[in-house]
Amino acid sequence: MLRVLFSLLLVTSLVFSTRKVLKVPLYVRKKFNGSELFFGRNSSKGSPFNLALQTRDNVEYYGTISMGTPRQNFSVLFDTGSSNTWLPSVNCPYSNLACQSHRRYNSSGSSSYVPDGRNFTLRYGSGKVLGYLSQDTLHFAGVDLPDLIFGESLFLQQFAFNSVIFDGLVGLGLGSLAWPKTTPFLELLCGKRLIEECIFSVYLSRHPKDIPGGEILFGGYDKTKFEGKLHYVPISQMNTWKIEITKTSVGTKQIGAQSSAILDTGTSLVLMPQETYDNLVKTLSVELKSGYYVMPCTIRTLPDINILIGGKVFPLTPSDYLIELTLDLKKVCVLGIAPIRRRFWVLGDIFLGRYYTVYDATAKRIGLATRQSEVVSK
Ligand SMILES: *[C@@H]1O[C@H](CO)[C@@H](O)[C@H](O)[C@H]1NC(C)=O
Ligand SMILES: *[C@@H]1O[C@H](CO)[C@@H](O)[C@H](O)[C@H]1NC(C)=O
Ligand SMILES: *[C@@H]1O[C@H](CO)[C@@H](O)[C@H](O)[C@H]1NC(C)=O
Ligand SMILES: *[C@@H]1O[C@H](CO)[C@@H](O)[C@H](O)[C@H]1NC(C)=O
Ligand SMILES: *[C@@H]1O[C@H](CO)[C@@H](O)[C@H](O)[C@H]1NC(C)=O
Repeated sequence: MLRVLFSLLLVTSLVFSTRKVLKVPLYVRKKFNGSELFFGRNSSKGSPFNLALQTRDNVEYYGTISMGTPRQNFSVLFDTGSSNTWLPSVNCPYSNLACQSHRRYNSSGSSSYVPDGRNFTLRYGSGKVLGYLSQDTLHFAGVDLPDLIFGESLFLQQFAFNSVIFDGLVGLGLGSLAWPKTTPFLELLCGKRLIEECIFSVYLSRHPKDIPGGEILFGGYDKTKFEGKLHYVPISQMNTWKIEITKTSVGTKQIGAQSSAILDTGTSLVLMPQETYDNLVKTLSVELKSGYYVMPCTIRTLPDINILIGGKVFPLTPSDYLIELTLDLKKVCVLGIAPIRRRFWVLGDIFLGRYYTVYDATAKRIGLATRQSEVVSK
């Protein structure tokens, strides 16, 4: 569900537009810094290995992969909300700035490239990606994954993709959303037995003092990254990382009924159905300014939002759900929660930054636990 990442960009741009600073891009592309890369250690066949993620302002989380032989490097968003993989193509026209401003895959420069040629279109809420399919070997975290069919993108919608840091996307979803007659990344990784258990775990840091970004551990989970035990719930729909929320409350007041929820690393915020959202803002009694909930960051007296999942409450505290922004040189906070006109929730980075999550493709379940707070004062 990549599109919802960009709905945050939309929201924040609008916040800015009300203050006439729309032209200041919030997410300026940073130059590639190779020395920040970290390729997983210990990736002997079958044993778990990790991939470091970097973040930009806790809004975009991305890691490094290489494609082809010799390797061509890219930053990619690892997206649990979708299943396909794509990279900008060296063949995209000069007129497509969103493509030209990113690193592009050159199939003529790769001896492991195998043509496919079928066209694809991916539609996101704020824009689309078009191109054709190709096949090559993907390298990440010290592992080689041959025979991956991925999209070479000729067209990236400007608004959605121009100002993001990541070049392309690797879908970590189960098969349901994959292109026909292709084996998506996770299925290929597990099918080739590059990991023993078809599991991966996501750790996203939020605090500025955290290790930057986070990590995805393929093939297992890391007990040092969470507190207590994992709470497992079954996925509620075959082939998507979707679970059931039983109900949602603020204090003693119920604001939302039973609903399904997608766990989505590709979304920055938490999105909830409009009705639940309306109940939430009423209950929080936050002030609406120019269509957005902007408040001084000194408001820490707001209550927790308690999300009941599989008989256990997963609270979001104000420090989880408020996002700090600088507007007119003043620090303000906005609600990191937005409404969608859907019947389900999207639990994006606001939630995943608070809870460590384990995606178990074999048992079709998701494990959740409070993320270990990493601030160790010396
Ligand atoms: C890259 O990042 C490292 C670690 O954050 C830093 O020490 C180094 O100066 C950076 N290099 C460049 C060229 O920005
Ligand atoms: C793999 O990890 C083990 C234990 O953490 C360590 O002893 C070993 O040296 C590592 N191997 C490599 C190749 O890094
Ligand atoms: C790709 O990344 C690897 C690992 O950081 C690095 O060793 C290599 O030089 C990079 N290649 C290019 C072409 O930048
Ligand atoms: C793609 O790679 C081929 C072979 O290395 C090279 O001749 C060509 O110039 C590259 N194309 C671009 C646009 O870099
Ligand atoms: C694939 O897309 C290209 C334009 O990018 C178009 O010219 C071609 O006709 C398309 N092929 C098919 C089979 O649709």
